[in-house]
Amino acid sequence: MTNPIRIGVIGSGYWGPNMIRNFYEMPAADLVAVADLNDDRLQHIQKRYPGVHTTKNHRDFFTLNLDAVVVATPPATHYTLAKECLEAGLHVLVEKPLTLDSAHADDLIALAAERDLRLMVGHTFEYNAAVRQLKRIIASGELGDLYYIDAVRVNLGLFQPHLNVMWDLAPHDISILLYLLGQQEQVQVSAQGMACIFPTVHDVAYMHLVFPSGVLAHVRVSWLDPSKTRRITVVGSKKMAVYDDVEPLEKIKVYDKGVEAPPYTDTYGEFQCSYRYGDVKIPRIDFVEPLREECEHFVQSIRTGERPQSDGHVGRNVVRILEMAEQSLHQNGHAHTATLADTSQQLALSHVSEL
Ligand SMILES: NC(=O)c1ccc[n+]([C@@H]2O[C@H](COP(=O)([O-])OP(=O)(O)OC[C@H]3O[C@@H](n4cnc5c(N)ncnc54)[C@H](O)[C@@H]3O)[C@@H](O)[C@H]2O)c1
Repeated sequence: MTNPIRIGVIGSGYWGPNMIRNFYEMPAADLVAVADLNDDRLQHIQKRYPGVHTTKNHRDFFTLNLDAVVVATPPATHYTLAKECLEAGLHVLVEKPLTLDSAHADDLIALAAERDLRLMVGHTFEYNAAVRQLKRIIASGELGDLYYIDAVRVNLGLFQPHLNVMWDLAPHDISILLYLLGQQEQVQVSAQGMACIFPTVHDVAYMHLVFPSGVLAHVRVSWLDPSKTRRITVVGSKKMAVYDDVEPLEKIKVYDKGVEAPPYTDTYGEFQCSYRYGDVKIPRIDFVEPLREECEHFVQSIRTGERPQSDGHVGRNVVRILEMAEQSLHQNGHAHTATLADTSQQLALSHVSEL
């Protein structure tokens, strides 16, 4: 039997403990160490996982014969921590967003390539069985030609002091869009929003993306909404699909609904569309915790040396789109073009079900 992959996790705040639990429970991994600047967080980990080494200094990891590190700290720290870990010869899984600057993301990609190390980003939804199912539905042609995608990710809080709501919530939706639509050379991005509670941090944003194929996408993110909504609507020429992540069981519904325009006549009185109100199909989804899939995929990519699904290039593309959206936000919605890195070497759809 091959030895388990020895892992350290930096950051044990809100999200880090989920990574810690998953790697601790995975037979293919050995959770060796956890670093956090906060003593209370470390005490909590010590109590819960007595055999795990805890430290306030992540550099202690470099003496523990680790294979890989997970960076689950605030986004402003991702670049420096990931860079140090790659330089120390460790494979790295960085939480989303990969960095706050696409030039930093490029640096990390180059460093990982130079050292032949895996660099992966925690785009959890790319490992979500419902999102994968939606990708299969789109690829099968069941929805017809895609017209537009509408994504909503809103709730009350959690406010971040330095980072606006786009950088916090929209990485999920952008990574889902890129995953669903596949390789894109560029995308036109604009955004408008408001800073309602704190004067300099936008807590509501409306992003508008136009893909080269003509598909339009709209992403609404907010920390200031009365109800939690996580919904993606895909409208095509034949059918429409809705993915509702808040639904416990029926996460995807495919609606056989559509509209046929009447043949053109110049007599206004004869204008009548034909509307189709067909069946609603709810595909069965065998749901596994997406984070478990993500963690297993990271370990697997270290073992095989294969490029992870959500690798540095994918993470960089999400950062690039967010950068352009940020510029647009401060220019009252002026559109920018984000040039995207080549991700065509990603795992093909045929591999998606096997991940
Ligand atoms: N994939 C997801 O669904 C998902 C969900 C939530 C958060 N996240 C991401 O996880 C990351 C962490 O978010 P969070 O909400 O847990 O933040 P948090 O503020 O709750 O926790 C961050 C922790 O990192 C520690 N930390 C900061 N700098 C450190 C350093 N240099 N060394 C060691 N520890 C350090 C802090 O003490 C804190 O305990 C972010 O990138 C966030 O975007 C991802």
